[in-house]
Amino acid sequence: MRNYIILFTLFTIPCCLSAQNTNPIVGSGKAVDPYHYTIIKSQEFAHASVVSAHPLASMVGAEIMKRGGNAFDGAVATQLVLAVVFPGAGNIGGGGFMVARKKDGKTIAVDFRETAPAKASRDMYLDKDGNVINNLSLAGHLASGVPGSVAGLFAEAQYANLPFKILIQPAIDIAENGFVLTERQAAGLNSAKASFIKNSTKSSAYIKEIKWKAGDTLIQKELAATLKRIRDLGQKGFYEGTTAQLIVDEMQRGNGIISLDDLKNYKVKTRTALEFDYKGYTIIGMPPSSSGGIIVCQLMKMIKDKPIATDGFQSVAAVQLMVEAERRSFADRAEYMGDPDFWKVPIKTLTSDKYLQGRMADYDPTKATPSTNVKAGIIKESTQTTHFNVIDKDGNMVAVTTTLNGTFGSKTVVGGAGFLMNNEMDDFSSKPGVPNMYGALGGDANAIQPGKRMLSAMSPTLALKNGKPYIVTGTPGGTTIPTSVFQTLVNIIEFDMNATDAVNKPKFHHQWQPDEISLEKGFPDDVKKKLEAMGYKTKTISEIGRTEVIKILADGTRQTAGDKRGEDSVAGY
Ligand code: DON
Repeated sequence: MRNYIILFTLFTIPCCLSAQNTNPIVGSGKAVDPYHYTIIKSQEFAHASVVSAHPLASMVGAEIMKRGGNAFDGAVATQLVLAVVFPGAGNIGGGGFMVARKKDGKTIAVDFRETAPAKASRDMYLDKDGNVINNLSLAGHLASGVPGSVAGLFAEAQYANLPFKILIQPAIDIAENGFVLTERQAAGLNSAKASFIKNSTKSSAYIKEIKWKAGDTLIQKELAATLKRIRDLGQKGFYEGTTAQLIVDEMQRGNGIISLDDLKNYKVKTRTALEFDYKGYTIIGMPPSSSGGIIVCQLMKMIKDKPIATDGFQSVAAVQLMVEAERRSFADRAEYMGDPDFWKVPIKTLTSDKYLQGRMADYDPTKATPSTNVKAGIIKESTQTTHFNVIDKDGNMVAVTTTLNGTFGSKTVVGGAGFLMNNEMDDFSSKPGVPNMYGALGGDANAIQPGKRMLSAMSPTLALKNGKPYIVTGTPGGTTIPTSVFQTLVNIIEFDMNATDAVNKPKFHHQWQPDEISLEKGFPDDVKKKLEAMGYKTKTISEIGRTEVIKILADGTRQTAGDKRGEDSVAGY
């Protein structure tokens, strides 16, 4: 058993918590103390565990499960706390996906991706000459899709044991009474200050005269009031009434287009989880409107008949094989993937063994296949993000990835409502052939249409071994999400790594275009040189993803690890 604990000193801030329920979870001296907390990077738990991007969120999720909640209760509570303590990506103004498996074996996939507002149009980010207007889909009021997160939380809560008002209370308490910022969070808020001011029409809790520093308390009264409306009125507390009006008022002050009807009409989509076999392991992923599940499936199947375990972890042969698979999969993404309610995505073909064997027919283990030679396969069929994992004592498994897209989303704080809006519209293809913020290309399949969901790469993923819970995983990272999940699965299944190593070993990424391999700092230099000699262009980047993993050992132990790249932290019992 390995426990790797990072402690950091935070200042004590005296406070009186007004208890909303008889036995509050949050407060000084309570199970979760927002003024004193530690980051725990990895730990093994006998019964239940959570790993998320923030210690307070993981601790609340674990405490909820201790008090009779199942993994869905834990997930709802964790997600809500992330919306308070991790405003860069945790959210109620964004969207995401849940992939879950109940203890009875039923799989669930919930798509709470944002949608394009009714007034959105295909060329809305182009100038009169047809060129993409810089930044319009990235910052400010026009960059937001209609948020799906709150509807997603209620969809998740259908499988929970405890009343929603219990699950949301810790988030309300932390918003109302504050929590202590880490140095990294303080720096994040300071660097976004000018963008908040530029892109919002009112001031907010995130803006302070002098700089934020580690140990400061962030109190979010307006966000607490919004969360209370959700507690008291359910989904309507967000999509109708005061909160909806505050969103629309904010939009109108900033020339945004989200309307009361857009909000009222927002609906989650329940999808059929994408399930496939990899050498006896069952992998369960998210189908479109995320490309994530298809890409992970394609990647696993493209390497299935190759001797990757014998080649060895980060051997030139293993990395080159994985890179070539990634290149082919991203070419397919650009051509074929979009919102399945608007575009017929040929999922069956894209994930079939025969098609994928064909995709690798021109794979050459001695040299790079230039991306210009790799087109999307021919198909004959008609035609700042955050991830967390939860498992409970009964084996219910929940993986959720949720996002505002960029860090702090559109940087627009809804005046009087205290939360940030997403800039997810940038995930559409604004113009064929013009890359989005992650360099991803797209065309008709992912063109903007009113009510359509923009294509995602988010990949909440589960794996079973002999039909039993084995891995819960996922990560942020834009287009690097499915390739990070792929590497994490391969690290565990083929290279027999524990959760911590599977998460922390340096990663690499290829997405067809640009035709280069991104190598994470720490990737072995000799392998890099050998890849370059085979014709690959490489570029070194500082970090890829923030992957979370729960690996369930043969005796049921929940080996839980949070990525070293962030303040990710585990909790459980
Ligand atoms: O849905 C997507 O694929 C992107 N909006 C995810 C963005 C993301 O992961 C940012 N975090 N690093």
